[in-house]
Amino acid sequence: MNSIKDLITRGFKVYNQHGLKRFFFESFLFIWWSILPESKAKRLFSRSKILSEIYFFIFGGFYFEKKTILQGKAKNAENPSSRTRMIRLTHGLEKGLSARNRREIFFEDKIDELLYVLEEVILRQHKSNDSRCELDRQTKWVIDTVNMYFSVVSKTQQIESSHSNFNKLIRNVGYKPSSDKTPHLRKERPQYLGSFDNFRILTEQRTSTRWFTDEPVSKDDLDQAIDAALQSPSACNKQSYEFKIYNNKEDIVNICNLALGAHGFKHNIPCLIVLVGKQRAYSRVRDKHNVYIDASLASMTFQYALETIGLASCCINWHSNIKRDLKISKLLSLDGDETVIMLMAVGHPDPDDNVAYSEKRPLEQMRTYEELED
Ligand SMILES: Cc1cc2nc3c(=O)[nH]c(=O)nc-3n(C[C@H](O)[C@H](O)[C@H](O)COP(=O)(O)O)c2cc1C
Repeated sequence: MNSIKDLITRGFKVYNQHGLKRFFFESFLFIWWSILPESKAKRLFSRSKILSEIYFFIFGGFYFEKKTILQGKAKNAENPSSRTRMIRLTHGLEKGLSARNRREIFFEDKIDELLYVLEEVILRQHKSNDSRCELDRQTKWVIDTVNMYFSVVSKTQQIESSHSNFNKLIRNVGYKPSSDKTPHLRKERPQYLGSFDNFRILTEQRTSTRWFTDEPVSKDDLDQAIDAALQSPSACNKQSYEFKIYNNKEDIVNICNLALGAHGFKHNIPCLIVLVGKQRAYSRVRDKHNVYIDASLASMTFQYALETIGLASCCINWHSNIKRDLKISKLLSLDGDETVIMLMAVGHPDPDDNVAYSEKRPLEQMRTYEELED
């Protein structure tokens, strides 16, 4: 009896809060799950490609993701950015150059394409800066790497001709190639001088912090932390994400209104980062998860970097659903292939406010040492 009353009350509540459409949808779900229990139904739908397509066609959940992936592929196909191509090709070249048993002739079929996109990137930098400006650090990396390539690869007629094109290209760019940014021995890398113990303390110092002082977050501090975050690994070194930074209180509250997890502390956030993934970086659907992985790896480094300069942070979930995704795309003027990965509150921690302890799972539950069976 009680449960019928509860059901009717719930029906009224849904109708009053969300309208007739939602009422019918929830009633349909209720009847459906009563005939076939949810866990059994979901397992059934998961058993075949067609059934799972039907499930998500009815219940949604992936439309926005599919849209951004397709828009990204379209962008990549019609106008792949020269920089993205330059990075992908140089990434391949670096791997060839640092291989243990380097071949005598390699990259012969790709070097001209790399020179072509390198020229485009250089021209664009000169155009946007109105003069012979200093090239950015990544373009210098490409020039150094290509220069090393020509110094070690065996010469074929085609490689000779590419080499002479390269020399012509860099003659007037105001940068002399060096070995600074070329493959080098691991032991020559900068060495971390801190101890593991100190690093371990940093992992404990970082804790989700939701209460900040009124002190504004300086651009220099943020840039320093973001620059450290950019050293994180990313698929093919493509760094398919962007940190969008908001300092205006009203903007921050408006953005947080679209997320669900910051209602209690959105008015206290001095600086909000929106991490946006860019699907255009990858040309194949099989790389669809890379934007999330690239952005998440960078955000972890970012959070540690913030702690070392006296700032604190808290990730804020982005609950992806079609309505919210469309709203935030409009609010932030995102491109068609851009997707919000997460939000992050950043500020000077208020030492006199509490932070949660959030003990972690025991190590034994989180890792297994495995061996494949014969
Ligand atoms: C993807 C992600 C989403 C999160 N979303 C929220 C959120 O919406 N609101 C919030 O207060 N904290 C959020 N957090 C912070 C977690 O609650 C927090 O990381 C977790 O409780 C562990 O605590 P710790 O970060 O202090 O170790 C999120 C963290 C992650 C990684």
